[in-house]
Amino acid sequence: MNNLGLSITVFILVLAFLFQCSSSSSSLRKGSSLLVENPEDNIMSQNGMFSAGFTAIGENAYSFAIWFTEPTSLNLNKTIIWMANRDQPVNGKRSKLTLLNTGNIVLFDVSLNNVRSSNTASLKPLELHLKDDGNLVLRELQGITILWQSFDSPTDTLLPGQPLTRYTKLVASRSESNHSTGFYKFYFDDANVLGLHYDGPDISSSYWPKPWLLISQVGRANFNGSRIALLDSFGSFLSSDNLIFITSDYGTVLQRRMKMDSDGNLRVYSRINVSQNWYVSWQAIYGACIAHGICGDNSTCSYNPKHGRKCSCIPGYRVKNHSDWSYGCEPMFDFTCNRSESTFFEMVNVEFYGYDIHYVPMSNYSSCEKLCLEDCNCKGFQYGFGVLKGFYKCYTKTQLRNGRHSPFFVGSTYLRLPKGNTFSKEESSTPSDHVCLVKLQRNFVSESENHYVNFFLWFAAAIGAFEAICIFIVWCSLFRNRKTNADQHGYHQLAAIGFRKYSYLELKKATKGFSQEIGRGGGGIVYKGLLSDQRHVAVKRLYNAQQGEGEFLAEVGIIGRLNHMNLIEMWGYCAEGKYRLLVYEYMENGSLAENLSANKLDWSKRYKIVLSIARVLAYLHEECLEWILHCDIKPQNILLDSNFQPKLADFGLSKLQNRNNLNNSCISMIRGTRGYMAPEWIFNLPITSKVDVYSYGIVVLEMITGKSPTTGFKIVSGEEESDGRLVTWVREKRGSDISWLEEIVDPQIALNYDRSKMEIMAKVALDCVVDERDSRPTMSKVVEMLQYHGSDV
Ligand SMILES: *[C@@H]1O[C@H](CO)[C@@H](O)[C@H](O)[C@H]1NC(C)=O
Ligand SMILES: *[C@@H]1O[C@H](CO)[C@@H](O)[C@H](O)[C@H]1NC(C)=O
Ligand SMILES: *[C@@H]1O[C@H](CO)[C@@H](O)[C@H](O)[C@H]1NC(C)=O
Ligand SMILES: *[C@@H]1O[C@H](CO)[C@@H](O)[C@H](O)[C@H]1NC(C)=O
Ligand SMILES: *[C@@H]1O[C@H](CO)[C@@H](O)[C@H](O)[C@H]1NC(C)=O
Ligand SMILES: *[C@@H]1O[C@H](CO)[C@@H](O)[C@H](O)[C@H]1NC(C)=O
Ligand SMILES: *[C@@H]1O[C@H](CO)[C@@H](O)[C@H](O)[C@H]1NC(C)=O
Ligand SMILES: *[C@@H]1O[C@H](CO)[C@@H](O)[C@H](O)[C@H]1NC(C)=O
Repeated sequence: MNNLGLSITVFILVLAFLFQCSSSSSSLRKGSSLLVENPEDNIMSQNGMFSAGFTAIGENAYSFAIWFTEPTSLNLNKTIIWMANRDQPVNGKRSKLTLLNTGNIVLFDVSLNNVRSSNTASLKPLELHLKDDGNLVLRELQGITILWQSFDSPTDTLLPGQPLTRYTKLVASRSESNHSTGFYKFYFDDANVLGLHYDGPDISSSYWPKPWLLISQVGRANFNGSRIALLDSFGSFLSSDNLIFITSDYGTVLQRRMKMDSDGNLRVYSRINVSQNWYVSWQAIYGACIAHGICGDNSTCSYNPKHGRKCSCIPGYRVKNHSDWSYGCEPMFDFTCNRSESTFFEMVNVEFYGYDIHYVPMSNYSSCEKLCLEDCNCKGFQYGFGVLKGFYKCYTKTQLRNGRHSPFFVGSTYLRLPKGNTFSKEESSTPSDHVCLVKLQRNFVSESENHYVNFFLWFAAAIGAFEAICIFIVWCSLFRNRKTNADQHGYHQLAAIGFRKYSYLELKKATKGFSQEIGRGGGGIVYKGLLSDQRHVAVKRLYNAQQGEGEFLAEVGIIGRLNHMNLIEMWGYCAEGKYRLLVYEYMENGSLAENLSANKLDWSKRYKIVLSIARVLAYLHEECLEWILHCDIKPQNILLDSNFQPKLADFGLSKLQNRNNLNNSCISMIRGTRGYMAPEWIFNLPITSKVDVYSYGIVVLEMITGKSPTTGFKIVSGEEESDGRLVTWVREKRGSDISWLEEIVDPQIALNYDRSKMEIMAKVALDCVVDERDSRPTMSKVVEMLQYHGSDV
């Protein structure tokens, strides 16, 4: 009898062992199920990269999903790539996914019954198999017929090798934490063009590519009706409408995913290795307030890198639903049609997109106001200066949607309000990112459980307890290694964007004891290095680092969060004792300065560099609201990658070095390089983003002429003359000669250039270097001027 008891125990253990093993199989056969109660009950792809199974998405709310297997630890969120039932979560008990003998896959819920099914049927032997590329397929065991696949119904994510077709869309989730269907979509529209669309509760609109431009102006084509797009594993994206891009980390074999994010942006995320974090390697739009509908009606969106995005009600309006900003704001007054009872409130640099009653080019303020007053439906008007056209434009609005505050919009919106009320701007300004989490409560009708089940529950509980102890031990040892100082919070935020802390020894080893110097300036020396994962890096060692680690990290964090394809990427930092180091991606082709002097740049490369640098400066100035002035733009700080894409280096470092003046990023200490510095520095005038515009202009002149502003420089009478030489030379040529362009252009380019574009470029450069800083264009105007005339880029 004892023997029998022993055998039964062994049998159970073996069974339990087998069960454990079968839980990580890569397929499900006919007649079997995955149960929600058993979190180990997953299908895993053969390479281990993907898992499919039930995952909790709320309180007692589960979804059948596919996710990246790593990280497996319970306290980290899964990277979900597909969901069967995002809008209909199932109960945490007795829900299951079954492959029926009829060949149909069914997701059952105890109270909702059949939640979703694949509507497939086959009498042949079938299996539900998770492939190595993340595609969950229902296929015949013998033969190659696929009856159903998850790649045909994406949620918000596209994996490498998964085509986006005329039948598929990526639809964002409602928020980071709420996975149900949200408002932002990515698909081929009726004109065969891939774009981003806001599809809200009462309106729809498209915002990318820019809706006011022609399809050809944004480099797309609509003649190809095949409507197919594909991201490959190297990071190149190719679409039938000519949307072609490569990610910033093109070439390396990494894990990648393209995701329609709940903030309305489309991003490609990569990670080097399952133990590291995801980072953004490409994104469609570069402004936090460009996506439509982000703040709801009658409100404006604004952004700064420290506090992120914010929605505010316009004056006279109050927020409708404090727990969800997408409901917008409603007026606190009654509208009046009586002209003498209306007044206008100016909101500087605020623009609203769409819903125009009238558009009047070449208008003046009084006629624009009159136009609005004459119409009962006019809620306000936008009055701004058209930079390219050179006159004021007037738009009267019936609705105030897609509002945003942009320091680069030259103009104002005037709100129509009843007289006699004092509406202040501060009225109701609430951060939008506090979308309250509503717990999803589902009632479960409990039924009496039988004793057989009880036995297994106890058995499982015992194993569970053992595992819990193991996890506890691991967790404790992890915890002991964690520093308890206040910087942890900042670090975790950074870790989320793919940022690492390196030890001094690690970097010393990587740079072979700081032996190979590749550059100097911007407060430190730059060394070449090779990390243990075989990535080449540039390590910058800062000279004077009196800052505490916390402060240092806070500021490195601001820089680390900046994201643009033409900004050099910071991968991490080291702050140990007196050492402060920054780790950047390494650029094969060195600096613009080296390339110019070695004559490696033809006209088309130069033109692309000029445009890209203008774009990235516009990004830094605009989206960062003058937070980040570069203050040291010169060819030595512009690096070129393997495709001669320029990347700006050394931005934001002024903040790391100046401790005395917290308010202004580069004002307390003169920064910059002789030859490239704006006159403001010399005359002690306030420093604004226009100093960068000036330096940019000098760099462009240098690229046109091939002449450095500092070569052959003789001190004549103090600093003023120092950068005058190149500029005055070009100016004089322009004034005196019709063939001035031919005379100034770098002889190395010879005649191989587009004359009209070259002329625009020279004109823009000269506009940028005027002494009067307010007459210099802003960087986004520069982009506009260059792009307008050179639509092929
Ligand atoms: C996990 O998700 C929750 C919301 O569901 C979020 O609050 C939390 O910050 C996330 N944790 C990590 C480590 O990303
Ligand atoms: C349409 O686009 C697809 C995918 O990029 C391409 O294979 C096909 O040749 C294109 N057709 C035409 C007519 O250009
Ligand atoms: C992933 O990175 C860790 C350290 O970051 C390293 O130890 C490990 O070998 C890497 N794994 C792979 C598969 O590259
Ligand atoms: C506010 O939003 C929440 C969450 O979407 C919703 O549950 C609630 O009903 C809304 N309240 C009103 C008054 O619309
Ligand atoms: C926005 O304001 C207009 C009046 O300007 C009002 O008619 C509309 O209902 C408001 N929108 C919302 C969502 O309350
Ligand atoms: C408009 O308002 C003014 C002053 O409040 C009043 O005198 C006038 O009668 C009103 N006009 C109309 C058409 O209601
Ligand atoms: C504004 O424009 C209108 C018509 O375009 C014209 O009659 C009026 O004189 C202008 N006002 C001023 C102040 O220029
Ligand atoms: C997610 O958003 C949807 C739509 O607004 C809402 O109905 C649902 O209750 C939300 N779920 C959670 C968990 O907040």
